Amino acid sequence: MPVPESVRVWEIVGDQGIDALHSNRRTGYQPQAGQVLVKVQATSLNFRDLSTILDPAARALTYPRVPNSDCAGEIVAAGPRVSHVAPGDRVAGCFFQSWKDGGISAAAMASALGGPLDGVLGEYALLAESGVVHVPEHLTFAQAACLPCAGVTAWNCLMRVGDVQAGDTVLLLGTGGVSITALQFAVAQGARVIITSAHDAKLKRAAALGAWQTVNYRSTPQWDAAVLKMTGGKGVDFVLEVGGAGTLPRSLNAVRVGGRIALIGVLTRGEIDPTVIMRKSIRVQGVYVGSRSMFEDMNRFITAHELRPVIDRHFAFDDAREAYHCMRSAEHFGKLVIDV
Ligand SMILES: NC(=O)c1ccc[n+]([C@@H]2O[C@H](COP(=O)([O-])OP(=O)(O)OC[C@H]3O[C@@H](n4cnc5c(N)ncnc54)[C@H](OP(=O)(O)O)[C@@H]3O)[C@@H](O)[C@H]2O)c1
Repeated sequence: MPVPESVRVWEIVGDQGIDALHSNRRTGYQPQAGQVLVKVQATSLNFRDLSTILDPAARALTYPRVPNSDCAGEIVAAGPRVSHVAPGDRVAGCFFQSWKDGGISAAAMASALGGPLDGVLGEYALLAESGVVHVPEHLTFAQAACLPCAGVTAWNCLMRVGDVQAGDTVLLLGTGGVSITALQFAVAQGARVIITSAHDAKLKRAAALGAWQTVNYRSTPQWDAAVLKMTGGKGVDFVLEVGGAGTLPRSLNAVRVGGRIALIGVLTRGEIDPTVIMRKSIRVQGVYVGSRSMFEDMNRFITAHELRPVIDRHFAFDDAREAYHCMRSAEHFGKLVIDV
């Protein structure tokens, strides 16, 4: 397929928020050595994409910048010295274009899509050959587009940091993209999941996906006490902490002595007393998404268990702004997807 002369993208052009997202046409999509051109079929939203649009200065963004880290589509052209993928392959982009395996590095962090690098909210994306993975065959492009950030983060937290095993008890907070993906992984792994939400209707949906126990953190503000009760006073083995400073004190209370917490979120503000971390010998680990190698491990698990990401709503490419407003309202359960 010939490389398109120009490609439609959405751009962040300043700090005026969602309604100032700008639709533009860009040129220069000829893949260079080691690059592939992906016809984007779907892109999913993460809370991080919303916060980047709302507060670009906090991430030292330069303008114009294409938002969004997550996409799936088909390779339509390859540059010189591309050998592991080829036109026709169904792929998803990796959140970090240059974190292949091993531990995270500053260089890997500088290769995040939709932040330091232009993202994927466009008709096409130029990606590194080593920055894409083949997607599980049973997934649609929209489902595969849910994996690069929320999926890999949930996988890294549960399987690497948490080392969650069958029979472990896992606490998940809220019913957004990361938590619902983690629910699916944890249930498939044989863990018992306790999940919280501000909405009973969402908790019913989580129970239908296999959650063992549910707590409404709005009607039960002391949800940590409820979690302790559910576990016979012992506490959970692992917490995937998406809330941040405002929820961490209760997560520290709800985890067992010697338990593990993966800390990823910035949704809430609050004060933290670190004493309990020492007293209970809790292992708290910060996580920033994950590597391509983790993405590939996760895809094997998704294939083996025939898992499908939960998509709450689809939006048309022209309605991208509406998709971010929807995420901001926090009414969604699981993922929001823009079909391109
Ligand atoms: N470090 C990383 O690598 C990484 C990767 C991905 C995400 N994150 C972070 O993880 C967080 C979640 O991301 P996401 O993309 O999954 O977001 P999302 O899809 O927008 O989900 C957010 C959900 O969190 C829940 N929530 C909000 N306030 C809460 C509170 N006080 N207690 C418990 N739950 C609360 C709400 O669920 P209910 O409506 O059910 O209450 C809300 O819908 C964000 O802070 C994001 O920046 C970090």
